[in-house]
Amino acid sequence: MGRVRGRVAIVTGAARGMGASHARVLAAEGARVVLTDVDAAGEGVAARIGDGALFVRHDVRNADDWARVVERAEGAFGSVDILVNNAGVADHEPIESLSEERFRREWEVNALGVFLGMKAVVGPMARAGGGSIVNVCSISSMVGEAGAVGYTASKFAAYGMTRVAAKEFGPKGIRVNSVHPGPIDTPLLHDAPGSADAVLMMKEMSPLGRIGAPEEVSAVVLFLASDDARFVTGSGYVVDGGLLA
Ligand SMILES: NC(=O)c1ccc[n+]([C@@H]2O[C@H](COP(=O)([O-])OP(=O)(O)OC[C@H]3O[C@@H](n4cnc5c(N)ncnc54)[C@H](O)[C@@H]3O)[C@@H](O)[C@H]2O)c1
Repeated sequence: MGRVRGRVAIVTGAARGMGASHARVLAAEGARVVLTDVDAAGEGVAARIGDGALFVRHDVRNADDWARVVERAEGAFGSVDILVNNAGVADHEPIESLSEERFRREWEVNALGVFLGMKAVVGPMARAGGGSIVNVCSISSMVGEAGAVGYTASKFAAYGMTRVAAKEFGPKGIRVNSVHPGPIDTPLLHDAPGSADAVLMMKEMSPLGRIGAPEEVSAVVLFLASDDARFVTGSGYVVDGGLLA
């Protein structure tokens, strides 16, 4: 308990799935949390967490939205110490049929959103004396996934930006790491076409024989956000039940 007590965290894509779980876990460990999402369902998630949480409607593709989120965090809680860039979208189309518009959408949410987020918090975190940024990437940041060109490209980009930011922000006391989930039990996984067969196949391929729970990724996010990881930066943590092995 209390591993991030006194810290202020922003978690994007927190209306459901893993983002909601990261927000709950950080709050349970003492952080005050700003939950953001394009989906207003985040309001209810924040209300259930209680006094130390608030929701801001936020499109991670929009720099003005980012400025508002940081302003709300500093106004309500006094600083920004932790950013979890979790919002993400996934399409499932081969290169030949994926439209330029859908590719741009994945690119803008999963890669541009991460860039804008890091850019928005670096000043406030440096003023607060340091901080921790966790970029939620994927095992698709490490291997090519057929039928997921926009997702794979944007997640590779987010992994690369993590390493650049770790080098640029280290002297300011800001650590930047990534987590790389495998298949995790969220709407994003289950909404994919043919997901039932894909999940079955991934379970069979996985050394642990199952898909993961959101809280199992949140545990690694919490570690990276906390002082337990004070000498960890520029690193990518795979949380996939051994699938990549
Ligand atoms: N579920 C998995 O198997 C899996 C595996 C690897 C990586 N991931 C990554 O984990 C993260 C969370 O995924 P999830 O499985 O919880 O998905 P999810 O679809 O359940 O949740 C994603 C959230 O992001 C929000 N979002 C989408 N576009 C947004 C935007 N432009 N601005 C702000 N919010 C936006 C959605 O409204 C949603 O609430 C994503 O980055 C995803 O790519 C998921």
